[in-house]
Amino acid sequence: MTLRISVIGTGYLGATHAACMAELGFEVIGVDVDQDKISRLSQGDLPFHEPGLPELLVKHVRSGRLRFTTDYAEVGGWADIHFIGVGTPERAADRGADLRYVDASIQSLARHITRDALVVGKSTVPVGTARRLAGVLAAESRPDVNVELAWNPEFLREGFAVKDTVSPDRLVFGVDSGTAEARLREVYARALGQDTPLVVTDFETAELVKVAANAFLATKISFINAFSEVTETVGGDIRTLADALGFDARIGRKFLNAGIGFGGGCLPKDIRALQTRVSELGLNHTMDFLHNVDDINLRRRDRVVSLAHQMLDNSVAGRRIAVLGVAFKPDSDDVRDSPALDVAGRLYNDGAEVTVYDPEGNDNARRRFPRLGYVDSVADAARDADLVLLLTEWNEFKALTPADLAPQVRGTRLVDGRNVLDHAQWEQAGWTIAALGRRFDPAG
Ligand code: UDX
Repeated sequence: MTLRISVIGTGYLGATHAACMAELGFEVIGVDVDQDKISRLSQGDLPFHEPGLPELLVKHVRSGRLRFTTDYAEVGGWADIHFIGVGTPERAADRGADLRYVDASIQSLARHITRDALVVGKSTVPVGTARRLAGVLAAESRPDVNVELAWNPEFLREGFAVKDTVSPDRLVFGVDSGTAEARLREVYARALGQDTPLVVTDFETAELVKVAANAFLATKISFINAFSEVTETVGGDIRTLADALGFDARIGRKFLNAGIGFGGGCLPKDIRALQTRVSELGLNHTMDFLHNVDDINLRRRDRVVSLAHQMLDNSVAGRRIAVLGVAFKPDSDDVRDSPALDVAGRLYNDGAEVTVYDPEGNDNARRRFPRLGYVDSVADAARDADLVLLLTEWNEFKALTPADLAPQVRGTRLVDGRNVLDHAQWEQAGWTIAALGRRFDPAG
């Protein structure tokens, strides 16, 4: 019989997981407390931008294989497997992970499960959470049903979420029994049949794999960005340095792109939550380096703001600045902790007239920072600009040439915040170019 799957939490992770599970042939119900989100998803309307996902959503809502509900009772008596994909945002008080949504979903589920089931956590949680939740499930669920917990962290990247879910680069099962492992093997049979590496382990290791991976990626980015501070001072080319490092197979070139640094809904909060958790465990200095990783990352934003001031002769007030890109990365409309939006907002607060264009991120950015100007094309953003800032490396921006912008701008000045342009080409065309990791001499 076809496995019945519920996915609790229909945000980025949950909506993607639900649609991909339907694509793999399972019967799926997505559950959320947000009625508006559920209504939209039920009509095949995806509330965020993710390439390839709208098509899957529409296809499976139409086929009837994918449904959505706000009612836990509906899934508690129906699904064989319940995936938990709710958010674990940063807690304002201590920068730890806020587990209220995870706790609430487990409690609600436990009360409504009326048939044997496996509950599978996918959310990113502090180590120790799964073992605690297994206890909650055991205590709160009916004595006549067999409910077990497993932890199966999610590594999907925004922009590649469908591929990362259907064909992940590895699978991690944190389990307490062979039965749970067997059930997860059924769910992921297709990927396992394609020789996807599988790690079967305990809860703690499974939880740690996820935060360790994100901490490593953040560290790699801040590592190259720390060298940017050096090359900005002594000269040298940060891109060539990264290329040369990347040829060492032990290091690898990926995640060594120097620029305004990392943002988004995962890396920043996950490295902070990890530090908080490890301190709670009494390991006060173990993750101190992540504090530096965070600081280096945030200093990149200061650097762009300071370059903008320098390029405008320290008189930013009233000057027009075009910002190309506000999403935290290309192929996404997500502006959570976006370095680009932060820089745009700070320059606005310094008195600049900031005009933003992002192919997908304008609407989300407008909600967070309504006072910036938002336009629908590069040409409109660049019109009469004294300075252009390229802050998210959309392909559309990477392909820009001096001739594309020259007719619109008032000043031929540009900061390449992602190191994606051919700087020599722009300089030959008479532009003043500054980039992160590159020495900048305001006198030219
Ligand atoms: C990340 C992890 O990659 C993913 O495995 C996890 O499940 C969730 O968090 P995501 O947040 O989608 O995914 O973004 P990612 O592609 O990792 O990029 C994170 C940030 O780092 C972006 O702001 C990006 O611009 C920045 N970045 C990335 C760099 O500044 N330089 C690089 O070389 C790579």
